[in-house]
Amino acid sequence: MTVDNPTVKDIFDTMDYGPAPESAASAVAWLERHGRTFDLFIGGAFVRSASEERFDVINPATREVLARVSQAGEQDVDAAVAAARKAFGPWSALSGHARARYLYALARGVQRHSRLFAVLETLDNGKPIRETRDLDLPLVARHFYHHAGWAQLRDTELVGYESVGVCGQIIPWNFPLLMLAWKVAPALAMGNTVVLKPAEFTPLTALLFAELCQEVGLPPGVVNIVTGDGRTGELLVAHPDVDKLAFTGSTEVGKLIREKTAGSGKKLSLELGGKSPFIVFDDADLDSAVEGVVDAIWFNQGQVCCAGSRLLVQEGVAERMTHKLRERMERLRVGSPLDKAVDMGAIVAPVQLEKIARLVEQGKAEGATCYQPSWAVPEEGLFYPPTLFTNAHPASTVAQVEIFGPVIASTTFRTPAEAVELANHTRYGLAASVWTENVNLALDVAPKLKAGVVWINCTNLFDAASGFGGYKESGFGREGGREGLFEYLVPSWEKRQKSEVRSQKSGGRRQATSEGSESTADETLPSFGMPPIDRTPKLYIGGKQVRPDSGYSLPVFDAKGNLVGEVGEGNRKDVRNAVEAARKASGWTKATAHARAQVLYYLGENLAARAPEFAARLSQLTGASRRAAEAEVEAAIERIFFYAAYSDKYDGAVHATPVRNVTLAMLEPLGVVGVVCPDEAPLLSLLSLTLPLIALGNRVVAVPSERYPLLATDLYTVLDTSDVPGGVLNLVTGPRDALTKTLAEHDEVDALWYVGTAEGSALVERASVGNLKRTWVNDGYARDWFDPVQAQGGEYLRRAVQVKNIWVPYGE
Ligand code: NAI
Repeated sequence: MTVDNPTVKDIFDTMDYGPAPESAASAVAWLERHGRTFDLFIGGAFVRSASEERFDVINPATREVLARVSQAGEQDVDAAVAAARKAFGPWSALSGHARARYLYALARGVQRHSRLFAVLETLDNGKPIRETRDLDLPLVARHFYHHAGWAQLRDTELVGYESVGVCGQIIPWNFPLLMLAWKVAPALAMGNTVVLKPAEFTPLTALLFAELCQEVGLPPGVVNIVTGDGRTGELLVAHPDVDKLAFTGSTEVGKLIREKTAGSGKKLSLELGGKSPFIVFDDADLDSAVEGVVDAIWFNQGQVCCAGSRLLVQEGVAERMTHKLRERMERLRVGSPLDKAVDMGAIVAPVQLEKIARLVEQGKAEGATCYQPSWAVPEEGLFYPPTLFTNAHPASTVAQVEIFGPVIASTTFRTPAEAVELANHTRYGLAASVWTENVNLALDVAPKLKAGVVWINCTNLFDAASGFGGYKESGFGREGGREGLFEYLVPSWEKRQKSEVRSQKSGGRRQATSEGSESTADETLPSFGMPPIDRTPKLYIGGKQVRPDSGYSLPVFDAKGNLVGEVGEGNRKDVRNAVEAARKASGWTKATAHARAQVLYYLGENLAARAPEFAARLSQLTGASRRAAEAEVEAAIERIFFYAAYSDKYDGAVHATPVRNVTLAMLEPLGVVGVVCPDEAPLLSLLSLTLPLIALGNRVVAVPSERYPLLATDLYTVLDTSDVPGGVLNLVTGPRDALTKTLAEHDEVDALWYVGTAEGSALVERASVGNLKRTWVNDGYARDWFDPVQAQGGEYLRRAVQVKNIWVPYGE
């Protein structure tokens, strides 16, 4: 209740806040200094857009026009990319220490101008000054400081990796400067240059940051900023001289970018939407949980990708929770974001406000109960009240669609198992929040949640030292922490390869298959009296040999062109069965790392026992010399031991986040992974690609070499005798392109590794968009499977897992 002209007594009665406005003067002066008109930041200077097109940027709290900024067109994007390319050589050649000093200077600059940045952000975005001042800006500065450290340490901590090149970065409007920092700091630290496109609703702090780049003397072209809408984004995505794209925004646009970049060889990270669960168990401290909900969904007006927008409450406390929430909602304050005593500011743009209102109406129409406070929000700006839906059906619109507004949908559950099931019942997997006083329950539930970040008794905590990013359709890649650095690095061997010729033309590699020319007929091993027509191996699915669904077989020829056997012609149905078998083999993921290591050692032992037989087979099929064939088998055995060794040694980390938390960076397997193998070194490549995945708890559906499938089918019995559980490694022989397509399109396949042609690589990236599976393709470049630098180790292990950061608070 507010009283006009209150007396002291009235004030004591109501305990209402008076207005506490932050002055906008410094930000207005900055806008005026630029004549409220902005150019593009290219090559270290502000330059006029060749398109001459401009658009308005509004203050959503007042609907006033703040400024006019440029819509970058093709020529502008070309110029920005060219400037970044020109700067890349010298920037990446700088010492880590020199780059660290620039990042340090940027961090200091952000702090020096922090209030101007905060006020400008509030004007542009509509979020409360309390948040920009106390959260966005400190986190921005922290990001630059933290990455100044990584720049310094790159050459000691990240040996074997190099800068990617020119990075195109496209960011959204909900945390404009913070998203810039998340993108720019790691890119620069790792020696890349960037062309950044801010969101069209909120470009102003990026332009102020451009001035800061000038102020600290950042070399021209290292950071370029092109403003514009989705069309500018599209130009950046399509640009042939961009090496890496980093995108944060809607899942729809993220998927579009995945499709458009398929086969381009561009590295890609996507941080997309979410519908994150906020789970309250009946032993939780309900008052804390209520404050948690305030932070989860009413922070930044709910325009947060990891907002806790689905409230799951254990039945026994649901009524009390709803009651407390409604009381709390009543006391929230919505109004001018420049008022320091306001909890919620304005929604970013009319289109977003309309979207929220529409979805809320839909929620009501679908039968959920809608609560809003009794008071009305200000009418002059773009405001929306805090909103709670109860009895929302788990499949209803408000429980499934990312509203991106101050709207939370609540459902009840009975048991922890049901909570996990409901929590995971979404296409997204960005974050989750778990509230319970029982640490056993919390740490039992956290690993079961399919989300990149899990907060225990807290929510919406971020730090530069901790990775952030999604599972499932919330995207892939991480931002922050050591794990985030790899988005801006490429293994040196891969980079070298890309400057070499494509696989078909590359000669002289130490591959068993390409050594035929070196070997003479006398040197090849005898075929041990192998009969001309071998038995016909079937497919290997769920630990059993099964006939292919097609009922067809494919002939296999030896190096001299003689028919030596036939293999099953696997098809779409077989892949589906194999995926199902792999799904069922979840025991492998739950098994201890020690147990997995034991199985792999046993596999190595059993392959060693049959080494001569495998060498003979290799020699017969590929025409490799005796020496080369034996060397391949020996290398395969060593590779098995390598990954057996790593099974229990590829650990996560505990990040040092600067709040009272241990942040556990847990490495979790991806799930079911498809692997498509090349013809080169058919035994060694098959094992090199499948073993890192299996060692770290994934289950695999592999398509072995199409040309030499008998090497894989010979493995069936070795797998059987080595106690590899059924479904952990499934082998489907047959036409590689068709099988690849089925794997790529299969929504139950979580990731796909492909080594083959450039066209196949493009197909994999394009067709994987349905469930945004994590892909790793070779873009047609050959690998030397004998070279440990290229064919085993860090990059393989890193790509076999995804990081989940679990924030666990402690102490007072
Ligand atoms: P959006 O995904 O369209 O925009 C994000 C960025 O991508 C902006 O810079 C935009 O200009 C750019 N962009 C748009 N179309 C593009 C294209 N075809 N190629 C390249 N870049 C393109 O998101 P929008 O329209 O601003 O918001 C729509 C919905 O997306 C929201 O209601 C919310 O649900 C979700 N969203 C999620 C965010 C997140 O952090 N996960 C952030 C912003 C929006």
